[in-house]
Amino acid sequence: MSKPSITGRLRAGIIGAGLIGRAHSLMLRRIAERTSGGIVVAAVADSNREAAHDLAARWTGARVMNSAEELIADDTLDAIWICTPTANHRDACIAAARAGKHIFCEKPLAMSVADAREMAAAIRSSGVVSQVGLVLRFSPVYTVIRAMVSEKSAGALLTATMRDDQDFPTRGVHNSAWRNNPSLTAGGTLIEHSVHDFDLMTWMFGPVRRVYCRTRNLNGARGVEDFGATELEFAAGFHGQLTSIWHRMIGRPSNRRFEVFAENLFVASDHDSTGSILVQRGDSAGEEIISEDQVMARFSEIVLGERPYLSPFKDSFAIPYALEDAAFVAALRGQCAVDPAFEEGVKAQQLVEAAYESSRRAMPIDVQS
Ligand SMILES: NC(=O)c1ccc[n+]([C@@H]2O[C@H](COP(=O)([O-])OP(=O)(O)OC[C@H]3O[C@@H](n4cnc5c(N)ncnc54)[C@H](O)[C@@H]3O)[C@@H](O)[C@H]2O)c1
Repeated sequence: MSKPSITGRLRAGIIGAGLIGRAHSLMLRRIAERTSGGIVVAAVADSNREAAHDLAARWTGARVMNSAEELIADDTLDAIWICTPTANHRDACIAAARAGKHIFCEKPLAMSVADAREMAAAIRSSGVVSQVGLVLRFSPVYTVIRAMVSEKSAGALLTATMRDDQDFPTRGVHNSAWRNNPSLTAGGTLIEHSVHDFDLMTWMFGPVRRVYCRTRNLNGARGVEDFGATELEFAAGFHGQLTSIWHRMIGRPSNRRFEVFAENLFVASDHDSTGSILVQRGDSAGEEIISEDQVMARFSEIVLGERPYLSPFKDSFAIPYALEDAAFVAALRGQCAVDPAFEEGVKAQQLVEAAYESSRRAMPIDVQS
């Protein structure tokens, strides 16, 4: 049975006051300022108390809890953002569902698909609303590319190629080291970063029926691969490639290069959020550039058509994190169905797990539907 929507002030709790917990706090403030009803971060838990205090101090009256368990047990909270390292997601999520709290869970959902399914079952039986942090679904560039490649005039899809690269995330903006600790991370670049790409590609092109993947480890931590090359065979009949890299160039910001070829259309972009898109159409001799402003104009049109409840956030359309939190809050207020739902995170994790199995066994693996 589903829980009733929240009409009054939404009381949020954040577990994990690190990089992404702080980002969600900022986004919630932005949403509170643009919508009625009110939102407050009322409680924060972090095993590093200084981090918890630092985040709680940004909200009037926010309490620092002694543990995730204590925060989850607080009856005054409506919803919980789970922003800890991957290994902690499962227990917090199941406990929160049992306590009747709505849940925003960061990606990847869990250490394994089996755990993610257990979490999904707890959410289903409690009837809480739950969203997964697959933020690329709110990317202006990818939303526009998705619309372009689905136009009939593009013709049949031929292939899609994604290169996702990032400085090994224990330095730079990622100033914590858990992603190099096999007991806290579900793997390396494939699950901890490219889970976004697996999700993006299925969101754009539909289900994958088979994967073939090879991984490599240069950093030495067991099970934390820093390279993955994955061939994806889509149920629609075409193939795509995903190259995932954790490198050592601290000066190079996280970057994605995405190209899609259809019979009558080529699109490419070096931007995974805002930026320009390069296009060539079947009937034109040269390439054209869709400027960042044009991309944003098209994105606004698409988003306002598909998600009208995001209209108070027109000034935040370039901030995917604001839009994903706003979408979750809108679902909590009964204005829309949750999207992307927790189950989408389970599907993405299932694809990555198939890729890992493929790499271990050095053979293509069918993805169970
Ligand atoms: N969607 C995205 O784009 C995105 C970006 C970054 C991180 N993430 C995800 O967010 C999660 C956190 O990543 P991060 O970069 O913020 O990490 P982080 O290291 O910056 O922050 C994690 C925080 O959790 C705290 N913590 C650890 N164990 C805890 C426990 N048992 N109870 C309470 N607090 C605990 C740590 O002290 C730390 O403050 C991960 O799942 C990561 O994959 C998602």
